Amino acid sequence: MKILVVGSGGREHALVWKLAQSPKAEKIYCAPGNGGIAEYAECVDIGAMEFEKLAAFAKEKEIDLTVIGMDDPLCGGIVDVFEREGLRVFGPRKNAAILEGSKAFSKDLMKKYGIPTADYQVFTDPTEAEAYLETAKYPIVLKADGLALGKGVLICKTRQEAKDGVKTLMLDKQFGSAGDEIVVEEFLTGREVSVLSFVDGKTIRIMTSAQDHKRAKDGDQGLNTGGMGTFSPSPFYTPEVDAFCREHIYQKTVDAMRAEGREFKGIIFFGLMLTADGPRVLEYNARFGDPETQVVLPRMKNDLVDVFEACIDGTLDQVELEFADNAAVCVVLASDGYPEKYEKGFPISGLEKFAGKTDYFVFHAGSKRTADGRILTNGGRVLGVTATGRDLKEARRKAYEATEWISFENKYMRHDIGKAIDEA
Ligand code: AMP
Ligand code: GLY
Repeated sequence: MKILVVGSGGREHALVWKLAQSPKAEKIYCAPGNGGIAEYAECVDIGAMEFEKLAAFAKEKEIDLTVIGMDDPLCGGIVDVFEREGLRVFGPRKNAAILEGSKAFSKDLMKKYGIPTADYQVFTDPTEAEAYLETAKYPIVLKADGLALGKGVLICKTRQEAKDGVKTLMLDKQFGSAGDEIVVEEFLTGREVSVLSFVDGKTIRIMTSAQDHKRAKDGDQGLNTGGMGTFSPSPFYTPEVDAFCREHIYQKTVDAMRAEGREFKGIIFFGLMLTADGPRVLEYNARFGDPETQVVLPRMKNDLVDVFEACIDGTLDQVELEFADNAAVCVVLASDGYPEKYEKGFPISGLEKFAGKTDYFVFHAGSKRTADGRILTNGGRVLGVTATGRDLKEARRKAYEATEWISFENKYMRHDIGKAIDEA
């Protein structure tokens, strides 16, 4: 079978690596891919938002399965374009990807169907938002409605901060039209957990849990990023939490989307906050998490091609997911300055130390391969170094050990990924 993966991050590297293990995968392409993906897949120089070009490529190469990794093309309707061309594609259509694409939509859906989430208000008028902030409780959370690379969420401790936030999102339009509408939301406290799932429109299959570290700096300081590291499983995702989410969140979300005429096929990523009053949904994503995927897929035993096909065919009820009884930790190596300004183009060394190892992985995010075969830094998040171990502590020790194998100028990482493990 010929497979095309659309995307260029660490998530897509992990997907390509996992797909390459399937006996069904004869040839894998990745558009546009990156320096590490090139090891398993032929990288094709077509951007993820060039839907017509991608569909034409898939037709020309007789691709049997296309997998969309990223949120932007999904929310922009790439699946609809591929389906119209009669191509087999894994991911939600545009009318279902809105679960991630519009926070106002997802909040209204949760309210309508009784899915537990933070209290909220939606505003399209900055003056009304500011008036509401006069009497609100603090801290409070402001969210741009649309996609903003995971950076459109502002936690505001004071009324003044919140007013400045409204200006940033709605008037200065720091995230463009994503801020035309904002969600103003109750601030929740607790442990955060990421839960990924496969969905075929009706049936949902939950993967193992993971925890992300969104802030740029140690001690959860600094700006929000796409994610600086992950571990899986989360020791805080207990059987009781799982039972609650199965009863009140997971299937209910799938059923709600169907009831709205927005059948969801693909990945639903539940961003959960485990509050003192029980789990609450912070957000939905319509795709694999990044870097959650880098700790979840190395623990998954199933053939990923089979699971994708079951989602497309509506036969997921016949699939049972299996995960190894181990743990994984991923530490992101970034360019110093990320998520703001950073330099790129520096040579990366030490990658060969991962070759042939089955418990250490290096997934590339912002890297590129030069014509003479060198690998250079090419983005904010450069590499994800993952290790598996018998338990979380062993995996963490090994992941940090492996971060030392890699060098590049301006290498930056957090030193406290998985600190929460010690508190479990
Ligand atoms: P989101 O993109 O909605 O997941 O938000 C990004 C991050 O902001 C989350 O991972 C949380 O750390 C934080 N966050 C979002 N919503 C809330 C909330 N209601 N209360 C507290 N923190 C939040
Ligand atoms: N790591 C969080 C995300 O993928 O949105």
